Amino acid sequence: MPNTKIAGIGYYVPEKVVTNDDLTKIMDTTDEWIQERTGIRERRYGKKHKETTTTMGARAAEIAIQRAGIAKEEVDFIIFATLSPDYYFPGCGVLVQRELGITGSEAGALDIRNQCSGFVYGLSIADQFIKSGMYRNILLIGSEMHSMGLDFSTRGRNVTVIFGDGAGAVLLQPTDEPGKGILTTHLHSNGTYAEKLAFINPGAHGGYHAAHQEEQVDYHYSDAEYGEMFVNEYMVENGYIFPNMEGQFVFKMAVQKFPEVIMEALAKTGLQTSDINMFIPHQANLRISQFVQRKLGLSDDQVWNNIQRFGNTTAASVPIALCEAYEAGAVKEGDLVCLAAFGSGFTWGSALIRW
Ligand code: ACO
Repeated sequence: MPNTKIAGIGYYVPEKVVTNDDLTKIMDTTDEWIQERTGIRERRYGKKHKETTTTMGARAAEIAIQRAGIAKEEVDFIIFATLSPDYYFPGCGVLVQRELGITGSEAGALDIRNQCSGFVYGLSIADQFIKSGMYRNILLIGSEMHSMGLDFSTRGRNVTVIFGDGAGAVLLQPTDEPGKGILTTHLHSNGTYAEKLAFINPGAHGGYHAAHQEEQVDYHYSDAEYGEMFVNEYMVENGYIFPNMEGQFVFKMAVQKFPEVIMEALAKTGLQTSDINMFIPHQANLRISQFVQRKLGLSDDQVWNNIQRFGNTTAASVPIALCEAYEAGAVKEGDLVCLAAFGSGFTWGSALIRW
């Protein structure tokens, strides 16, 4: 059975840089608050109505495909991870196929909805398909256009300041080189806390349903009317059409689950934290990454962080950081690379790759 290797990698971030000071002009926040709590200095926002999750994903994919040295028509399966799809449906997998101009191949396309852990989940799915011999050239993309769906009033500041736009992609292929490629992947979830970090409306639940809101709400509509409405005025007026997050709860879960799932991968492969050449954490929050780094006893040159410049790009954060590390020469042939992510769901996962 072959292993799966990353044959090509690429990333794309929009040109427009939005600094913390830029955000202070539209909401009550400060550069100091944002940097102290999250480490973020700036993020990128895509060009409204010109760039989308799909188009950014396609730009990253083109680089990954070109670096893999294949023709884009040879891609035989597409996996697209995002929480900010262009459309409610169909998913970005088919849209990126069209954007890349490879509809003629009729390659399968799958969208996955695992938020921050979407890329790691996608990697594991692709690994199974490649190991089984089903596909030979899988394009895996993580892309997010958060700036189109955030609350830019002070009401949304605890969430909005964290997120940025961008995309990363890998082209995965089988390898027969012993001990190379993806060594192991581990995926977990616990839906108990689904609403602790969620973008609930519009949804098919037939209500505004923001479980973190404890106040009694006058719905204005009868149950029957609610059932008919996908989005209503009440949701719009009260900001229930934006992502919500109980930040401290998410923080506590993240710093517990990151180390757990990394240790699980190391135990499975008989490796130690000292064997890790490069740890690429999902860029949730610099404080989370630093906590995990300390817990695992990793040195600064064993960890790649770029949230300071790009914010949290959810499904795109791991491939963007991995690609940056690779381009900087910080990930080299033979290195042990550890990827890990935790996010909404909650879902989390890890992967160990021998580069
Ligand atoms: N600017 C200024 N003040 C703010 C802002 C802001 N952007 N956001 C919130 N505040 C205020 C709050 O209103 C509150 O004010 P109050 O004390 O007067 O009520 C105060 O700051 C503290 O709010 P908390 O939410 O308790 O702030 P906390 O210290 O927990 O920091 C943060 C918030 C950064 C979100 C933190 O909880 C955190 O890092 N959580 C982890 C979640 C995370 O990183 N999520 C990323 C996405 S999820 C993922 O990728 C895993």
